[in-house]
Amino acid sequence: MLKYFFLSYVFVAAIVVAAFGTRGSKSELPPIEIFPDMDHQAKVKYQVKNDFFADGSGGRRPVNHTVPIGFEMPSKPASAPDAKPPMFGFSNGLDYYNTGKIGDFYGDGLPAQLAADKALLQRGERQYNIYCSVCHAASGNGKGMTSKYGILSAFNFHQAGSMDTKNPGAYRADGAIFDVITHGKGLMGSYGGNLTVRDRWAIVAYIRTLQVAVKEGNVSVQ
Ligand code: HEC
Repeated sequence: MLKYFFLSYVFVAAIVVAAFGTRGSKSELPPIEIFPDMDHQAKVKYQVKNDFFADGSGGRRPVNHTVPIGFEMPSKPASAPDAKPPMFGFSNGLDYYNTGKIGDFYGDGLPAQLAADKALLQRGERQYNIYCSVCHAASGNGKGMTSKYGILSAFNFHQAGSMDTKNPGAYRADGAIFDVITHGKGLMGSYGGNLTVRDRWAIVAYIRTLQVAVKEGNVSVQ
């Protein structure tokens, strides 16, 4: 009996030494990977040679006459003598324009960088109808197409108090709406990766316009 004990003792000791004995020593060999996870992937690395493409380079040039996602449409063609490089359109700073917040608090009103003109509202209408109306409805009453398929709780922009600053339960400051678009809230996903900062403010301005139109009876909400 004791013999087996000693045999298994030596066996276990050998395994322990084999497993931990070389800890701290360096090796040129690749590590043993029991679960490789996604450590090794076939991918194209930037600024690296790549035989897949005819020009032998891994990096790709932007397609001519296109604007990369996240950049604003340039106002002039790149060939114009005073053309500027395209502006980055997504959140890029901690000021009111980029966050909807002033310090720790949501601000109200359109940021100084933008003017509430026809172009901004038309842009807001377009983007609202693309990105928000499926849930919040074209009228903003929260009963968009998805409400027919089970998403019932999209916010109604015309609910009592949502324009009334003295009713904090329902009122959302402009900056708060901007923040919800950027980060999402509760059941609503974030649109910060889809909508440029300017487009988000344009939507906020359009929602305010919708609210006034409904309040004054120019648009009906079914
Ligand atoms: C896929 C459906 C869906 C889409 C698309 C959507 N929302 Fe929402 N939204 C919701 C739901 C659901 C809620 C309620 C969230 C909660 O309280 O859980 C909500 C809530 C809100 C609120 C109120 C949040 C609060 O402070 O309580 C605002 C403001 C809002 N959405 C704005 C927008 C805007 C602007 C867009 C377009 C950029 C948009 N939503 C797109 C579903 C959607």
